[in-house]
Amino acid sequence: MTSAGAVDLSVNIGALRLRNPILAASGTFGYGVEFAHLLDLNKIGGFVTKGLSLEPIQGSPAPRLCETPSGMLNAVGLQNVGVRAFVAEKIPVLRDFDTLVIANVFGYSADEYSEVIRILEDAPGLAAYELNISCPNVKQGGIQFGSDPVMVSQVVGLARKAAAKRPLWAKLSPLVTDIGLIARAAEEAGADGLTVANTYPAMSLDAATGQSRLGCPTGGLSGPAIRPITLRLVWEVAKTVRIPVIGLGGIEKVDDVLEYLAAGATAVQVGTASFVSPDAAELLARGLQYRAEEYNYSNMSDLKAKLVLKFN
Ligand SMILES: Cc1cc2nc3c(=O)[nH]c(=O)nc-3n(C[C@H](O)[C@H](O)[C@H](O)COP(=O)(O)O)c2cc1C
Repeated sequence: MTSAGAVDLSVNIGALRLRNPILAASGTFGYGVEFAHLLDLNKIGGFVTKGLSLEPIQGSPAPRLCETPSGMLNAVGLQNVGVRAFVAEKIPVLRDFDTLVIANVFGYSADEYSEVIRILEDAPGLAAYELNISCPNVKQGGIQFGSDPVMVSQVVGLARKAAAKRPLWAKLSPLVTDIGLIARAAEEAGADGLTVANTYPAMSLDAATGQSRLGCPTGGLSGPAIRPITLRLVWEVAKTVRIPVIGLGGIEKVDDVLEYLAAGATAVQVGTASFVSPDAAELLARGLQYRAEEYNYSNMSDLKAKLVLKFN
C-alpha cells in the first residue's frame, strides 16, 4: 500500500518503472498533447506517440475509419509530422506532464528506423522507443519487417545500436505463422520489451456499390473483435521470451486488462477504446486501483500471482 492507502500498481518493464500498467496506444492518442485537456496524463502509466518517420507523411485519402462488428477498421497511412517536427514542437509541451512518453518509430528500411532513433536520442523527456515492425521493407519487395525473423533481427539489431540511451520495445505484427519465432528473434537482437500486437489486415465493402468503406481497399482491424485472437498471441509470446510483454487489442474494461495480465502481460495499452472515451486509459487505471483494493492485493506482483494461479 502507498502512504495514501492506495494499492501500489507500479510495474517494471526492464529498467523502466511505470506508475501503473495502463498505457495509451500508438496512433490512437496523437502526440499526447491533444489529449491533455481530456484526461489527466499524470494518472496513466504513460502513452505511446503516433508513429514517427524520418520525413512527414500526409497519409491516406478519407474516409480513414469505419465501424465493423465489435471493432473498427483504419487506414490512416501512417500520417505524422515527421520526427524533427515532433522534437521541435511536441516534446517541449510534453515536458509539463509527469508521464512516460514512449516514441513509436517506423521506417521503410532498417536504416530509416535507426536514423529516426538517432534524432530522438538527442531529445529530452522520452522514456523508451517502440518499433512498429508491421511496416513494408521497401528494399526487400515490400515484405513486412515483422513477418520474417531475419528482417526482425536486422531492424531490431540496428535500432538497438542507435538506441544507446533508452529502452527499446518491438511491437509485433499479429499476421505471422509462428509468433514465438519472431518474438525470440526480437529478444535476441536486443529488445527490452515486446508489444503484442498491431492491427489485423482486413476489409469492409459497401454492399450497394461494392466500394471499400475506407479510402483504401484495406485497413487494420482493432477493437474488441480482435481481443481473443491477440490474447492468444500474448500468451504464446509470454511463455517464449524472458523480456516483459505489453499486451493490447480490444481492451475496454478492467476485466480485459486482467485477462491480458493473466495471459502473461506485464502492462497493457489501450487503443480503440480512446475513440469511444478519450479518458479510457485513466478510467481503466482507476478501475484497476478499485479492483486491487476490493480484492486486497498488496501490489501488482501479488495481483499477478493470484491471477496466474486462477488462470492455471
Ligand atoms: C487509427 C489508428 C492508428 C494507429 N496507428 C498506429 C501507429 O502509428 N503505429 C503503431 O504501432 N500502431 C498503430 N495503431 C495500432 C494500435 O496502436 C493498436 O496496436 C491496435 O489498434 C490494437 O489495439 P486496440 O484494439 O486497443 O485498438 C493504430 C491503430 C488505430 C486504430
